[in-house]
Amino acid sequence: MTNQCFDRVLTSEEDTKDLAQQIARQVSAPLQIHLIGDLGAGKTTLTRYFIRALGYEGKVKSPTYTLVEPYQWSSNQLYHFDLYRLSDPEELEFMGIRDYVTQDTICLFEWPSKGQGYIPKPDIEIELTMNGAERLVRVSCLSEKGAIHVE
Ligand SMILES: Nc1ncnc2c1ncn2[C@@H]1O[C@H](COP(=O)(O)OP(=O)(O)O)[C@@H](O)[C@H]1O
Ligand SMILES: [Mg+2]
Repeated sequence: MTNQCFDRVLTSEEDTKDLAQQIARQVSAPLQIHLIGDLGAGKTTLTRYFIRALGYEGKVKSPTYTLVEPYQWSSNQLYHFDLYRLSDPEELEFMGIRDYVTQDTICLFEWPSKGQGYIPKPDIEIELTMNGAERLVRVSCLSEKGAIHVE
């Protein structure tokens, strides 16, 4: 299959919310999303809008200190990882990464580079770049499951 990628400018958080909603409408488990970008680029913000768009109504916290935040509601299972503070990717083995990545789960990884070799390949990769007050985003569709369209 041909991989597609979409480059967009997110001029406000409203645009980020819109992107998150578009993605949420087109995906289902099993799914791996990798989020790339500097601190403050908007990875957690995008994830928060994505989880809400999927129908979760509770609080969405950054997993910066916990490494992973689990979400379960109706028939949905989702894990939001932030590997920024991971010192050794092997720690992912000890925390039982295999139990998180199943046919029934959607997993999002911030700082996937820190878990290289220990986390699954992405279906969708989202790269955010800060450009003053704006954010530039590149959404890369890397598998059949991740073949989405972005307006
Ligand atoms: N278009 C935008 N999309 C996402 N966040 C934005 C945008 N514009 C400004 N922001 C702000 O940038 C910050 C992004 O923080 P966060 O999502 O925690 O980043 P990261 O998880 O990449 O470190 C938030 O304070 C958010 O309000
Ligand atoms: Mg974050």
